[in-house]
Amino acid sequence: MEKLYPVKKICCIGAGYVGGPTMAVIANNCPEIEVYVADINQERIAGWNEENLDLLPVYEPGLDTLISKSRGFNLFFTTNIKNSIQEADIIFLSVNTPTKSKGIGAGKASDLKWIEASAREIARYALGHTIVVEKSTIPVRTADTIKQILFSCEDIDKDSREIKSFSVLSNPEFLAEGTAINDLQNPDRVLIGGDDEKAVETLSSIYSKWIDEKKILKTNLWSSELSKLTANAFLAQRISSINSVAAICEVTGANITEVSNAIGMDSRIGNKFLKSGPGFGGSCFTKDILNLVYLSNFYGLERVADYWDQVLKINIWTRNRISEIIVEKLFGTLSQKKLTILGFSFKADTNDTRDSSAIQICKNLLEEGAKLEIYDPKVTKEQIEIELNKNKSSITEKNISSGSWEYSDSIYQSVINSDAVIILTEWDEFKNIDWSRIISNMRRPAWLFDTRNVANHKLAKSCGLKVWQLGRNLI
Ligand code: UDX
Ligand code: ADP
Repeated sequence: MEKLYPVKKICCIGAGYVGGPTMAVIANNCPEIEVYVADINQERIAGWNEENLDLLPVYEPGLDTLISKSRGFNLFFTTNIKNSIQEADIIFLSVNTPTKSKGIGAGKASDLKWIEASAREIARYALGHTIVVEKSTIPVRTADTIKQILFSCEDIDKDSREIKSFSVLSNPEFLAEGTAINDLQNPDRVLIGGDDEKAVETLSSIYSKWIDEKKILKTNLWSSELSKLTANAFLAQRISSINSVAAICEVTGANITEVSNAIGMDSRIGNKFLKSGPGFGGSCFTKDILNLVYLSNFYGLERVADYWDQVLKINIWTRNRISEIIVEKLFGTLSQKKLTILGFSFKADTNDTRDSSAIQICKNLLEEGAKLEIYDPKVTKEQIEIELNKNKSSITEKNISSGSWEYSDSIYQSVINSDAVIILTEWDEFKNIDWSRIISNMRRPAWLFDTRNVANHKLAKSCGLKVWQLGRNLI
């Protein structure tokens, strides 16, 4: 028996933040393989096929170069899901798996309806042997669901005399947005979980085209799925830990940057993921911890569930704490005050706003009656509108949010008559703001609230701004 399955064509279902960059990197490293990225969203696919690379649906440094090299050569973006499935030897599932908004497990469990729909499409259209790879972040044991759907289709196909068979693997993505291309090109590790050795080796042979084999870990399916949730839970836990310490710094006179440096130099702790901020966001951290909490509760491990839930509670508290401080410093009322928000994405170098702390903080400020002027170098007005209007169904919520917001495409325009500038995302351009120009347009007393500790505070202060920095006790 051959040691590997042949791989001529790869399909990825889901052309999002994960599917697009991941397939671009695979296509670039494997010119002999044709890669099809399929999505039901026509607008998204049109975006991926845009001539003007500035209009790609995902902003990711370095992505445009990869797309221009491979697109139309061995990388294709399509809405033809049926054909892409039929021809593929390997299918990656990179569809969205948001937290359920209603029904059993609402607010905790992941909604697997898109995974299930994709699995059903694969079951229907696949031909020959197909390796199906879970790429989306999913709850532990999702592979079971996928297997059940795929394997049950074999009976149907006996009638049509079509031979089809499947292997199901877990191959979680560990890319972080903003550094996705480098993370994919030079990963710390690649994890492949599965019990079909031939399929595992086949997928491994793709990655080994550009990744050292020692970095390719092979585990059972469930370890692979759980490792992904655990890695994200550990990272999120570090951020909640450092944010809780930032609050202690403010009341004791310690400085969070100094404390982070000091503990990060302990090689057992390490210096990454120790930056305090307005709370973690993004599509994974909250969702993955909720999954862990749900799983623990399901198996009767309430103490474990409570432990991880606390990481989320601190995150929500951090967001609310920041808006409370702003209100307090601005004499307890924001009514009729104009506040400039710098940064709306959940971190720098991405246009992604999913679960961004900026959403909750802006909503809190709007409820206090503030007039917000929001600037972000990559997030569009439409995207901000979607986020601020989400879950705003009840009339009561409309009544209490007496504030208003405007979109601004210039930092310097956005501060005219503003009472405060609030930095929520650590975009590079916020590091070099000309504070003398800013303050001349602001109302006094003029405030800078820097939740990311990126601005030139000395300069801001010397220009006359009152400065509040997260985790420091300096005014
Ligand atoms: C994360 C994981 O890092 C990645 O491995 C996984 O595949 C997907 O989830 P991502 O959500 O893109 O990646 O962003 P990440 O860089 O982890 O940041 C998450 C959040 O934590 C951001 O809001 C960021 O601002 C915040 N953060 C990160 C901090 O507040 N402090 C830090 O020191 C690091
Ligand atoms: P992620 O960050 O995990 O990549 P995104 O929401 O950015 O998540 O992307 C997921 C993509 O999956 C979306 O573009 C969505 O249209 C697509 N998708 C969801 N369900 C299906 C499906 N059944 N078939 C094809 N594409 C799908």
